Amino acid sequence: MRGYNSVMRPDEEVMKRWRDSAPLWDKHRNVIRGMFAPVTQALIEDAGIGSEDSVLDVATGPGEPALTVAALVGANGKVFGVDAIAGMVAAARAEAQRLQLKNAKFEEAFADDLPFADDTFDAAISRFGVMFFPSPVDGVREMLRVLKPGRKLALAVWHFAERNPFHSALSRVMDRYVDAPPVEPEAPDAFRFAPRGKLMEVSAGAGVVARSERVLQFRIEAPVSVEDFWNLRREMSEKLNEKFATLSEERRPKAKREMLASLEEYSGSKGMSFPAEVLIVSGAKSNTA
Ligand SMILES: C[S@@+](CC[C@H](N)C(=O)[O-])C[C@H]1O[C@@H](n2cnc3c(N)ncnc32)[C@H](O)[C@@H]1O
Repeated sequence: MRGYNSVMRPDEEVMKRWRDSAPLWDKHRNVIRGMFAPVTQALIEDAGIGSEDSVLDVATGPGEPALTVAALVGANGKVFGVDAIAGMVAAARAEAQRLQLKNAKFEEAFADDLPFADDTFDAAISRFGVMFFPSPVDGVREMLRVLKPGRKLALAVWHFAERNPFHSALSRVMDRYVDAPPVEPEAPDAFRFAPRGKLMEVSAGAGVVARSERVLQFRIEAPVSVEDFWNLRREMSEKLNEKFATLSEERRPKAKREMLASLEEYSGSKGMSFPAEVLIVSGAKSNTA
């Protein structure tokens, strides 16, 4: 049986941002894969993914963690990545082909209306996706529906911005230049699930059992210069890019100088390195579901 009749569509502004950033996430895929590799590893562990498993990756973007997992599960396993944005799915498919990963497939789909039968997967994961779902509880419920009974899902979301200078170093400077209206707690935003317990509650509402939450402390490493990192962040975040674009031609050079200066303390001989904190929420589908 397929999901729900009354699917909640994400708002058009959110979708437009992801559509616009799809080619840029593809362009920076190698650096992004490296930066978030510890998060991928945590998801693999907490979802209990092993060789020959069949795995679902929701909101896969241009294909991560799906492609990393495809290599791990091997030729007898398989991975399906889904994303709401056609450009992301196309980029993921092209990369799977380039890597000759025949066990990785990608489909365009909304998180709360997955094109899979009940009880299909051995594990389900989502890296930095659930915070953007129009209804996170429906999205998590859908992931649970397509999981086999007793199997696990794991979700990665950002902890608070202040603990993540990867985000906050630049936004602190930008906020001095551009008024940022306060973000509503339920708005689709990177930090929607930053408070501990919030995604646990959503998971409980969706029917996830044996729930747990942990704070993953790691370092985001990017072997690039300060200037290249600034370009990468702008291209990864349409929001940041839009704010910068609203500055007058005269203000931009000063804002950029201050932005680059805010990044200097995270720059070393091997490139950029930021302390980072992500929440990993995991749990299982009941055996009796
Ligand atoms: C921050 S990116 C994460 C991409 C990838 N998982 C990664 O960690 O590199 C968020 C992704 O969520 C997707 N997305 C947002 N809302 C969605 C929804 N309702 N259903 C499916 N995908 C969605 C976006 O298109 C985007 O690719």
